[in-house]
Amino acid sequence: MNDWLTTADELLTTTRSVRRRLDLGRAVPLDLVRDCVRIALQAPTGGNSQVAHFVVVADAGKRARLADLYRRVWVGYRKAENSVYARAMNEPSGPRREQLQRVAESADFLVENLHRVPLHVVPCIEGRLGRTPPGPFANVANASTYGSVLPAAWSFMLAARARGLGCAWTTAHLACEEEAAGILGIPYEQVTQVALLPTAYYTGATFRPAARRPLDQTLHVDSW
Ligand SMILES: Cc1cc2nc3c(=O)[nH]c(=O)nc-3n(C[C@H](O)[C@H](O)[C@H](O)COP(=O)(O)O)c2cc1C
Repeated sequence: MNDWLTTADELLTTTRSVRRRLDLGRAVPLDLVRDCVRIALQAPTGGNSQVAHFVVVADAGKRARLADLYRRVWVGYRKAENSVYARAMNEPSGPRREQLQRVAESADFLVENLHRVPLHVVPCIEGRLGRTPPGPFANVANASTYGSVLPAAWSFMLAARARGLGCAWTTAHLACEEEAAGILGIPYEQVTQVALLPTAYYTGATFRPAARRPLDQTLHVDSW
């Protein structure tokens, strides 16, 4: 654990999507990742179902195949009208535009180097999402399902950060989820992947809190 990472607030405000500062030349011990997963599994699950899983991908061949797949998806994403690239172009010049441009450049770095990241972690949940029939309980089901794995995935990133590891939260590969399931031996009909977290030691000492929308534009008290 990093001694300097003293407060929960510091951990929560400085855990970033790390891409350019991933140390691509340093191996990550599996035991360290096991520690992070053990902590992540303390996250809540709907009805205490405990249906979250983590697939750790260390094998170089599998990482290369996942990187190819991710790159293919990214070619399409680049052209999408709501992509970070399009939003950066359409934003008036100013700090928000600069922030989006930085994210776009950082995302490009990740696409080009994904096969070099020493580990990937794929949080999954038992069950196949998106098959809930429409109706009053559809949103309950969706929220309960995602809510039973995404808190654990974020806890994984926090625990990783406290140990000097950086991760990038990514979802692009899910556009080819079934193909990724084939690469990783995940039973696609029974298990849903929800993210892919490239994971490595990070370079540099620490991270700063990011600029976010003002609190008063996003906090609603008693009514919207
Ligand atoms: C649901 C979700 C999906 C994301 N998907 C991707 C992705 O596919 N590729 C990528 O490079 N970053 C992805 N990101 C990372 C975001 O770009 C990043 O969180 C955002 O720019 C804020 O930066 P920060 O995490 O450093 O604060 C994703 C983040 C979230 C929460």
